[in-house]
Amino acid sequence: MPTPKVVFVLGPPGAGKGTQCKNIVEKYGYVHLSAGDLLREERAKPGSQYGELIENYIREGKIVPVEITCSLLEKAIEDSGKEKFLIDGFPRSKNNLDGWNNTAAKRINLSFVLYFDCPLETCTERCLARGAAGSGRSDDNLESLQKRVKTFLSETEPIIQHYKAMDMVKTVDATKTENEVFEEVAKIFDEIKV
Ligand code: C5P
Ligand code: MG
Repeated sequence: MPTPKVVFVLGPPGAGKGTQCKNIVEKYGYVHLSAGDLLREERAKPGSQYGELIENYIREGKIVPVEITCSLLEKAIEDSGKEKFLIDGFPRSKNNLDGWNNTAAKRINLSFVLYFDCPLETCTERCLARGAAGSGRSDDNLESLQKRVKTFLSETEPIIQHYKAMDMVKTVDATKTENEVFEEVAKIFDEIKV
């Protein structure tokens, strides 16, 4: 088996990470793994040991301990048998980063970090609209969103800075329309030919 390659996809909640990942999958044949989706799936499993813990963290906009998230990600990578992955919404904190570096990083190569840059007010509006349109997410409400934004600023921003200092971040302006954003994204993936 070749060593799996990952692109970390980061940005504030509502920046369009999931939407653009779907577009990248279609055009470039990656496998999309959303840390948030994997946590929500685990939460929904009957009898899951971590179901309640995950729900509490998600509603509070806090970052679930990395042991849980990283093992879900690693299992999904192994089970897929594929080689190229978009890991959306990870690493989102120092705890996520350290957990990854101490375990998965030995078996999996990081290609780069794709960062969707978007003002927090725009992102909050998008998530509220998504909630109003029936996303069914327990955290697409103003109270949870304020917490998610706080977590983004205090915990995720430093991770983006960490990777910027390593020159590993490719930034996209995520304020535009879905198609316009994807044009920018596609330029990046065309250029790196992965
Ligand atoms: O990325 P998404 O918005 O779907 O994440 C929803 C929630 O899932 C986050 O606010 C957080 O509570 C949880 N999460 C996490 N650790 C991650 C990604 C998501 O705890 N790496
Ligand atoms: Mg998402």
